[in-house]
Order: sequence, then C-alpha cells, then structure tokens
Amino acid sequence: MAATGLALDYASRSPAARILTQKPLIRRIGYVSRPVHGLALAEIARIVSVCRSRNTAANVCGVLLFTGLDFAQLLEGPSDAVATVWQNICADNRHRDLVTLFDEHAPTMWFGDWRVGFPSDAATASQIAANGSP
Ligand SMILES: Cc1cc2nc3c(=O)[nH]c(=O)nc-3n(C[C@H](O)[C@H](O)[C@H](O)COP(=O)(O)O)c2cc1C
Repeated sequence: MAATGLALDYASRSPAARILTQKPLIRRIGYVSRPVHGLALAEIARIVSVCRSRNTAANVCGVLLFTGLDFAQLLEGPSDAVATVWQNICADNRHRDLVTLFDEHAPTMWFGDWRVGFPSDAATASQIAANGSP
C-alpha cells in the first residue's frame, strides 16, 4: 500500500507522466461551405475583417479560403474560444451547405501566427466581379 502510494506520488510529479497524460487544449476545425446566392465580394471582405479582429482578440488562428465558389476554413485555438466562434459561423446565414471536414483536439497549432490568413484567387475574384456573384 505504501509502495503504491510512493509510486503514484512519483508518477504525479514525473515530467514524462505529465507529457503522457497532458490533455490537448487546442481545438482544430476544418469545414467547407458555399456563400448564399448574391453574396457580394465587399461582404466577404467585411467578414474577413470581422474575423481578423475577433479571432485575434480570442487567440483563434487559422485560414479562410474563398475560391469564388466556396469557402474553406481552418480554425484553431483554445477550445472554449473556438467553440464560440464555431457557434457563430454555423448560425451565419451568409453561407450554407456547411460540411465539417474535421473537428479534433491537438497539442499544438498549425497556423499559430496566422490571424485569419485570407488567400484569394485574384483571377477568380475579378471573374466574379465581372459576372456578379458565383
Ligand atoms: C465563411 C465565414 C467564415 C467566418 N469566420 C469567422 C471567424 O473565423 N471568426 C469570427 O469571429 N467570425 C467568423 N464569421 C462571422 C460569424 O459567422 C459572425 O457573423 C461573426 O462572428 C459576428 O457575429 P455577431 O455579430 O452576431 O456576434 C464567419 C462567417 C462566414 C460566412
């Protein structure tokens, strides 16, 4: 009994045990969705700007991609913060047909220094501007 107690005491202080039992605090979500018909590029630019300031404040990182036809976004950060952002995104009626690609926990971020990176395709963007919405 005493020996078990000693072993548990050692295990709880062991750096190796801490690594093995460490709970990942980062939540990472990837999804795709489609803008609603008629969503203007200016509105997408506004979304990106809101994303940047809110995500920066909440320490949420990631990348939002708009191909001209659909969105793809990767979000990652502290679990609670990502949950709030995710709830807003799911309820946002400016996009539809949202499909979650993955929703997982991880020990580290992939895009830790990206505050909503927004690579867009210039050729597609000017095509949309010329033809109206996708
Ligand atoms: C494709 C898409 C991606 C979005 N990504 C984010 C995001 O990363 N962070 C964020 O705060 N809001 C994001 N939004 C906006 C939210 O859905 C929501 O509009 C925003 O958080 C403001 O919500 P509120 O003013 O109702 O509180 C996104 C919206 C769309 C359509």
